[in-house]
Amino acid sequence: MPRPVPEPAAGRVRLLRGDARRLAGIEDGSVHLIVTSPPYPMIPQWDAPFARLGARDFEAMHRLLDPAWQAAHRVLVPGGLLAVNVGDALRTTDGEFRLWPNHARVIVGAERAGFRSLPYVLWKKPTNRPNAFLGSGFEPPNAYVTLDCEFVLLFRKGPLRRLPRHDPARAASRYSRAERDRWFSQIWDDIRGARQDAGGRRSAAFPDEVPGRLVRMFSLLGETVLDPFAGTGTTLAAAQRWGRNAIGVERDPTVFAELAERGRALGWEVVTPSRRASAGGAAARGARAPPRPRS
Ligand SMILES: C[S@@+](CC[C@H](N)C(=O)[O-])C[C@H]1O[C@@H](n2cnc3c(N)ncnc32)[C@H](O)[C@@H]1O
Repeated sequence: MPRPVPEPAAGRVRLLRGDARRLAGIEDGSVHLIVTSPPYPMIPQWDAPFARLGARDFEAMHRLLDPAWQAAHRVLVPGGLLAVNVGDALRTTDGEFRLWPNHARVIVGAERAGFRSLPYVLWKKPTNRPNAFLGSGFEPPNAYVTLDCEFVLLFRKGPLRRLPRHDPARAASRYSRAERDRWFSQIWDDIRGARQDAGGRRSAAFPDEVPGRLVRMFSLLGETVLDPFAGTGTTLAAAQRWGRNAIGVERDPTVFAELAERGRALGWEVVTPSRRASAGGAAARGARAPPRPRS
């Protein structure tokens, strides 16, 4: 079992090449907020990676994601939040067109992992095809509603976090009244910014406004935000911009190499599995004790 790596200091970002289903090297109860977006089951972009792990149908794909929600529960502080960005899928299977409700199945997986569901957000995807319509003409009854929202599912580990009265970090992390009124409504229809491409591939990155808001809504300055499915690092950049520490875990070697290159240019720390072993050794010798998480 790899030893835990000490937490980064405030405003730092650390990238770990690893698996969201284990989160090796991240200590129990050391993360305040998780903001993430897994590969979406039943979306063709993710068929091949799921198939390589033996999953070819909706339930099998979600069974591969379930351990990630268990690992998320392990690393969060008591009262810490998990925010999962996910979209449903539309797909014709065995000749039948149907909706594959990823959001509902992630809720089942997270609840089974020990989380409690909280009211969630729907954000409207920016589109340059505002009239996209799944049907033809104007006559009922055989057209479909367009899937133009994604979910940010919100879960908490246990009861509310307890914070000291008049906590200065909490006061310094305030949002404005206008931000509160917009962010805490259930539908976000003001999200700007397109998904990004990475190295010519569709990266499935979310607009940075999404993790940016979540980081400010649900963590304090100086706390630690984790993205276990880091991709291009949108969550990590947002966390750093807003004065939080961040840890990103990514499994795909090509995606990780691109993320590491971007991260090095920004001064982020890159921990590969071999470095993790030696960092764990240094920690074990007392090189730097990890700061105690705020509870
Ligand atoms: C939907 S994308 C995340 C995009 C990210 N939110 C961004 O803005 O770039 C999912 C990412 O999870 C990675 N991934 C898939 N399975 C993983 C696993 N078991 N552990 C860690 N990363 C994984 C994929 O390689 C992909 O980069």
